[in-house]
Amino acid sequence: MTPRQRALLRWWERQARDLPWRRTRDPWAVLVSEVMLQQTQVARVVPRYEAFLERFPDPAACAAAPLAEVLGLWAGLGYNRRARDLHRAAASVVEAHGGRFPAELGALLSLPGVGPYTARAVLAFAFEHDVGVVDTNVGRVLARWEGRRLRPSEVQRLADAAVPSGAGWRWNQALFDLGAGPCARRAPKCGNCPVARWCAWRGEGDDPADGSAGVAGGQSRFEGSDRQGRGRLVDALRAAGRVPAGGLAGAAGWPDDPARAARVAAGLVADGLAAWDADRALVWPDAAR
Ligand code: ADE
Repeated sequence: MTPRQRALLRWWERQARDLPWRRTRDPWAVLVSEVMLQQTQVARVVPRYEAFLERFPDPAACAAAPLAEVLGLWAGLGYNRRARDLHRAAASVVEAHGGRFPAELGALLSLPGVGPYTARAVLAFAFEHDVGVVDTNVGRVLARWEGRRLRPSEVQRLADAAVPSGAGWRWNQALFDLGAGPCARRAPKCGNCPVARWCAWRGEGDDPADGSAGVAGGQSRFEGSDRQGRGRLVDALRAAGRVPAGGLAGAAGWPDDPARAARVAAGLVADGLAAWDADRALVWPDAAR
């Protein structure tokens, strides 16, 4: 092990956050946690994660439920397409793999909604493979360590090369905690960083993570966005199961803009998150048939 690897893992043994998905190696639980953690904060995810797994302890239970129920458990998490994809992924694991997750990158990537990040997260956190798991936080840490913006082609390679052999599970969790703590996006605390000695940047000058491959520029504004109206319409379905045509604009929060509400509702239908019934009311997808 290199001195940097040893220093980070030692720090982590003392600082590790105790998070429910770190107490399991069940690939279904890991997948649920990782999908929820995309774009949603840890504190918000914890109770939803526990409730979701209580209702759907395995992919078969989830696949057998109507999408409406899966979306119901997604309340408060936002980005409802993730729930739809998780439901489809559960069905795919049941149908294509007999209910057991494949421990193979290509097979994981073929599951709905599972991209390079999520597939490697399942490999690292369920199967303990030595792969680099690169989300925006890890991409930021790597760019800072290198002291330069990284190209898309090199981020995964650097992440994989950084993993100490046999310690992939701990290493990737440690990188998340480093990114959530000392190496935060804003106002990093290099004085508290266990690996500052091996960092090319150390907080001096322009942040090499800005514009580096795999590093997100921050979420776009939610207030007043189409996404906000989408979320409100799905919330209305959660509450009532049905939004009549004349109630769409109000439910979306745009009482004076029915055209916008209709367009956003049509987007939900196109995405398989809702359907129209015979009276052109918005309903859950399974309810229209
Ligand atoms: N974000 C994504 N995956 C995570 C994990 N396993 N622990 C903490 N934060 C995370």
